Amino acid sequence: MTGGKRYMSSRGLTPREIVERLDKYVIGQGEAKRAVAIALRNRWRRQNVTRELGEEISPKNIIMIGPTGVGKTEIARRLAKLDNSPFFKVEASKFTEVGYVGRDVESMIRDLVELAVNMVKSEEQENVKPKAAEVAEERLLDILIPPRPAEKKVEELVSEKHWEVTDIEHPAQFDSTREKMRRLLRDGKLDNRYVDIETSEVRSGPMIEVFTSSGIEDMGLNIKEMFGNIFPQKKKKRRVKIPEALEILQQEEAQRLVDMDKVTKTAVERVEQSGIVFLDEIDKIVGSNSTHGPDVSREGVQRDLLPIVEGSTVNTRYGMVKTDHILFISAGAFTATKPSDLIPELQGRFPIRVELDSLGRGEFIRILTEPHNALVKQYIEMLATEGVSLVFTDDAIAEIAEVAALVNERTENIGARRLYTVMETLLEEISFNAPDMEGAEVVIDAAYVREKLENIIEDEDLSRYIL
Ligand SMILES: Nc1ncnc2c1ncn2[C@@H]1O[C@H](COP(=O)(O)OP(=O)(O)OP(=O)(O)O)[C@@H](O)[C@H]1O
Ligand SMILES: [Mg+2]
Repeated sequence: MTGGKRYMSSRGLTPREIVERLDKYVIGQGEAKRAVAIALRNRWRRQNVTRELGEEISPKNIIMIGPTGVGKTEIARRLAKLDNSPFFKVEASKFTEVGYVGRDVESMIRDLVELAVNMVKSEEQENVKPKAAEVAEERLLDILIPPRPAEKKVEELVSEKHWEVTDIEHPAQFDSTREKMRRLLRDGKLDNRYVDIETSEVRSGPMIEVFTSSGIEDMGLNIKEMFGNIFPQKKKKRRVKIPEALEILQQEEAQRLVDMDKVTKTAVERVEQSGIVFLDEIDKIVGSNSTHGPDVSREGVQRDLLPIVEGSTVNTRYGMVKTDHILFISAGAFTATKPSDLIPELQGRFPIRVELDSLGRGEFIRILTEPHNALVKQYIEMLATEGVSLVFTDDAIAEIAEVAALVNERTENIGARRLYTVMETLLEEISFNAPDMEGAEVVIDAAYVREKLENIIEDEDLSRYIL
């Protein structure tokens, strides 16, 4: 990382590629996808201009406007996954609740860092896995054939200068026993044997709960860790099967091999360079023009958010974290209010506005079947575990979509979430009976859908309760 180019590690995903990847999970909402794709690409661009200019370029934060259940959160979450960015979702309205009132808005950055530390730590543990496996194997062999004090290594004997021929033969023999044992171990011949191993307890002593929302946490202290260091680490002897012993030792070694200083440094850097905060329900902190009652605190939250979104430094357990380049994506339904009702300073920090479309019958058909994790696929796979094969005809899918759209229209529009309630009700009987139906093939056609749902749809009150 010298002067000019920074992090020129990969060519990054182009906006078009980002949209294509999002298409695999989210149907429609092209405008929102384009906006987030550009935001992500802009980060890559910023990281490739000179450091000096890069510092000046602030992220173009986004407000997503749209009714509930149309994919706002889904788009942001998938975006973060594409880029391996630390992603934290928080409801803006949470900060207006009693007990939070404003000042703890910084906690979202602390949570984001915490999350990034765990993320980097598990990546690192993955990286050291081969090494950890090697060391664990040696440790296990030490336990299986403990080197007796008399048997010193050849090098030790040589250095001690009093070796005799008989002394060398012995370790050689010992080595060959060890190698034989290693082979047995690797071939799984020892899998049913038990072994005693001593493990240091991984911080699972008495649980210490700390009831404070700020205070101690603000000072960057961690009570559990402090006590963890005061109390001596407990060693515990356990008798376990060989494969499990190997697993335990590997994990222990992986923990030991991971350099936590490096982890936290990388995590903080990743948060600063590519963190994404998803601020949901931003419309709930818009106050109407009156200056009394809860509205004051709502506007207060906006004011508290301002420095974080504009770029400031937040004190965390892992050190100071600069928020200047964190991407903020906010979302809200904005039914009674508009983004222009936000305080002007905050509006300026969210220059990109995108509207998401409400979803209808056509989208529902696609959402049911197309995404990688589509609901219909989920149910088919779930019931396959019971030996039941579920088949949906095309007209059944169309009928389900129709019902969902209709109920959204007549009662409350909860977007694609309606599909969940409709599917659950539709398949309730099969879900319950599946264990007794092994080997059966169940065809869900339009008639079946109508039969199961007709009464409920016709009675508006009933659909309010059931769907
Ligand atoms: N356009 C879509 N394509 C595919 N699935 C969708 C779409 N919209 C919503 N869904 C499904 O509905 C669920 C709810 O969507 P999501 O969490 O994105 O809603 P939201 O727009 O954030 O609404 P809210 O305002 O209630 O938070 C998602 O988990 C997803 O499975
Ligand atoms: Mg949401």
